[in-house]
Amino acid sequence: MPFDFRGKKVLVTGAGKGIGRGVAIALNKAGSKVYALSRTKSTLDSLVDECPDIIPIVADLCGWEDTREKLEKIEVLDGLVNNAGIGGHDYDAVDCPKEYIKHILDNNLLSAINCSQVVAKKMIEAKVKGAIVNCSSTGSLAAFPKGLPYNVSKAGMDMVTKQFALELGPYEIRVNSVNAALVSTPLVQSLIERGTLSENTFSSRMPMGRILTLEEIVDPILYLLSEHSAMVTGQMHVVDGGCMSNITVKV
Ligand SMILES: NC(=O)c1ccc[n+]([C@@H]2O[C@H](COP(=O)([O-])OP(=O)(O)OC[C@H]3O[C@@H](n4cnc5c(N)ncnc54)[C@H](OP(=O)(O)O)[C@@H]3O)[C@@H](O)[C@H]2O)c1
Repeated sequence: MPFDFRGKKVLVTGAGKGIGRGVAIALNKAGSKVYALSRTKSTLDSLVDECPDIIPIVADLCGWEDTREKLEKIEVLDGLVNNAGIGGHDYDAVDCPKEYIKHILDNNLLSAINCSQVVAKKMIEAKVKGAIVNCSSTGSLAAFPKGLPYNVSKAGMDMVTKQFALELGPYEIRVNSVNAALVSTPLVQSLIERGTLSENTFSSRMPMGRILTLEEIVDPILYLLSEHSAMVTGQMHVVDGGCMSNITVKV
């Protein structure tokens, strides 16, 4: 879908691989100045090889203070995509260790709060009418085997979206989430390889009969960042091929 982000400045977290990388490239093509934050330098290097205008930031979002320091140095932004996230599907709920749960919440949930605080404060001070998009999941809406920490992190993210939308609305800063079902990315490939999930489990529940392509989640993220969604805020935008509307196992 053609979007025009000329003159805009957007930070994408977890931009080294998967959805974040797709969003960073699409924003770059649409004319935005893009700050791409990720943990592993080599993936950002290859992103910059592909799109030399993109500005890389190597950071581990689990480091609260280090992340704040790095983000404080960036200019005022128009948009933020809180995309960085990891899977957390190693334990049944009754066996899941405290440190494991804390790590997933730190990585997937607290990181988004931290980035939103720094970026939104600067937007408020500069009177910028910005937009924040959080990458949640259908896992925030329904349980999945061994999904306790991941799904709780995403359910928490949905409330982060609503809470920030409420408090930032008066400054005309919008906050929404995309809640995708399964998208083919390195994260999903690793879960499939480990036998944690199968593509067929999801696609057979989807009225659309297949999992999402990268573009099919990137476009909704750009829509929510763009002025095309000027009065949309505090929303969980479910992008799931109809999966969550269906109670049958096989469509
Ligand atoms: N794929 C799906 O089906 C799906 C569905 C619903 C929601 N989501 C959500 O969408 C987001 C992206 O998923 P994806 O499938 O694109 O994942 P992915 O392929 O694993 O890519 C995630 C990216 O985030 C980075 N990252 C993770 N934790 C980080 C941290 N603490 N600090 C900095 N960077 C970090 C990773 O860095 P490294 O290169 O160092 O690993 C990687 O570049 C996640 O929040 C995920 O929960 C995905």
